[in-house]
Amino acid sequence: MKAVVYTSYGPPDGLKLREIEKPTPKDEEVLIKVYAVATNPLDWHKLRASPFFVRFSEGLLKPKHPVLGADIAGRVEAVGSKVTRFKVGDEVFGNVSAGGFAEYVCGAENHLAHKPANVSFEEAAAVPVAALTALQGLRDHEQLRAGQKVLINGASGGVGTYAVQLAKVFGADVTGVCSTRNLELVRAIGADEVIDYTEADFTRAGRRYDLVLDAVGNLSAAGYRRILTSEGRAVVAGFTTLSRMLFQVALLGSLTSKTSKREIQPMLAAVKREDLATLATLLEQGKVKSVIDRCYPLADTPKALAYLETGRARGKVVISVQPTQHL
Ligand SMILES: NC(=O)c1ccc[n+]([C@@H]2O[C@H](COP(=O)([O-])OP(=O)(O)OC[C@H]3O[C@@H](n4cnc5c(N)ncnc54)[C@H](OP(=O)(O)O)[C@@H]3O)[C@@H](O)[C@H]2O)c1
Repeated sequence: MKAVVYTSYGPPDGLKLREIEKPTPKDEEVLIKVYAVATNPLDWHKLRASPFFVRFSEGLLKPKHPVLGADIAGRVEAVGSKVTRFKVGDEVFGNVSAGGFAEYVCGAENHLAHKPANVSFEEAAAVPVAALTALQGLRDHEQLRAGQKVLINGASGGVGTYAVQLAKVFGADVTGVCSTRNLELVRAIGADEVIDYTEADFTRAGRRYDLVLDAVGNLSAAGYRRILTSEGRAVVAGFTTLSRMLFQVALLGSLTSKTSKREIQPMLAAVKREDLATLATLLEQGKVKSVIDRCYPLADTPKALAYLETGRARGKVVISVQPTQHL
């Protein structure tokens, strides 16, 4: 089978399309024929081994797993002996951790869900990491309540476009932060208000929010405090630099959380099959839609990752693996 492989850390043009052996599912896995696979910032962080600590999980000197790509959608080709929820022929989507930039991949049954028939493979592949981050960031710790004011920083990106729509599903009053060229997009997916971060420092505009979901990670602890209500919380998913994350969010954030009712917390999304099922239902009902910026063929995966790495993607960047499945 064809796969996009990397054998050493570096820029996207080090990725090569190669023939490799088709994987075999373990007992609790299914083999999936991949129709579409989405890119995530984590893919290029792993590709470049940046920040450095990525090497502790991915391989100290060279990558342990030669194929990146975590969020996939496709058709089940074979099932392991202990798989109970899927059968050959089912259309699925979910997170396989790695190996998705390929024609076939194996994935754990518990990290997959049935793809709704009215949702394309590309739209489904776009969902897992970005939409789980948005859902868990808005819902967990303390459920977002109808009427609360929410600010989504990075509203036009992969995480942000789901976060704006999901916050509306929760009945929140949503403000999206993006640059001038994305104001219309963020309004169109449901934001009640949009703020152009290129115009002014929105942390000094005097407005306060019950929840800030930060998919950029560029604010200081003082900045979060200025825009949170007295009991508001900031959930920080994105990060610009490791030192900012450690100092502003982890250290100063936890001090803020200890000394006032405001909370500043970093978050890490978890792949949960019940959350994937929740998202599948919302997609099927048309309450949430995947915003897809660009689709590339498998051979152009390096171009897709290079584009994502610019930080300017509007929604998701997806690879269409099977040529018949273009949007
Ligand atoms: N913690 C977790 O579990 C988790 C999970 C998923 C992702 N993440 C992290 O979350 C971040 C976002 O992920 P993503 O998939 O949404 O990335 P992405 O799609 O690459 O984000 C691109 C978007 O970010 C916007 N953006 C860039 N700088 C901005 C700024 N200063 N203010 C507001 N918006 C800005 C861009 O809009 P403009 O062009 O308009 O600037 C663009 O639309 C990344 O750091 C990623 O690593 C964390």
